Amino acid sequence: MSVKRPQIMGHRGAPSLAPENTLLGFKTAFQAGALWTETDVSLLGDGTPVIFHDATMDRCTDRSGSIAALSLDDLQRVNANQQHPAAGFQAIPTLAAALDCFADLGMGVNLELKRHDHVPPAALVDAVHPVLSSGPLPKERVLLSSFDFDVLKLACAAFPGWSIAVIAENATSEVFEVAQQIKADALNLWWETLSYDDVQRTRAQGMTVNVWTANEPDKVRSMIDWGVAGFMSDCPQNFRF
Ligand code: G3P
Ligand code: MG
Repeated sequence: MSVKRPQIMGHRGAPSLAPENTLLGFKTAFQAGALWTETDVSLLGDGTPVIFHDATMDRCTDRSGSIAALSLDDLQRVNANQQHPAAGFQAIPTLAAALDCFADLGMGVNLELKRHDHVPPAALVDAVHPVLSSGPLPKERVLLSSFDFDVLKLACAAFPGWSIAVIAENATSEVFEVAQQIKADALNLWWETLSYDDVQRTRAQGMTVNVWTANEPDKVRSMIDWGVAGFMSDCPQNFRF
């Protein structure tokens, strides 16, 4: 009998070790043993898809204000190392640069489509589509995910045959309905609210369960026993199976 190992994914890279959502962060996550990473794609004001979590620059960069104020030309001047200043200058990566980095490393990516208020759902999917579909990663090494149901429905139509996951804080009936509608492969559920029953219900519907954000090895062991398949962690260096 073979037992499938859980998939440890960096959460935004390895933010306990290196600036989140930067190329350095992804390389660090890979060196720490994560063969996959979760990351966030957002749109700048000029529509460029970049790897960035927040709607504003305040927490992670040396600037403040909305990312809608940024365009592609600004990226080499905005330092995204705020959480780890010793890392030196770290640019916000474009989605294209991040995909090249994942391909070079041989990493898989759980790409969270992050819709901020300045971006309509269709604009986000339309901007990501050409970059991802002509990029270097085979679809087997990509999981598309989002909290936003409109984005998920559009992504399902735009990316036939690609794996897709619904992200949710709670495994509600509506989450299962949307998952069924878009033929989701997985639910990416919140660690804090996840129950054994959520895992069994998800698996009974033919989907896998990934959890965020899994930073406690003991709790991860229990969730492996429940049947959770993937764990997004800020500390991938702490997980060896
Ligand atoms: O993709 C799962 C997780 O990253 C969702 O929450 O806020 O970290 O993007 P957040
Ligand atoms: Mg995310």
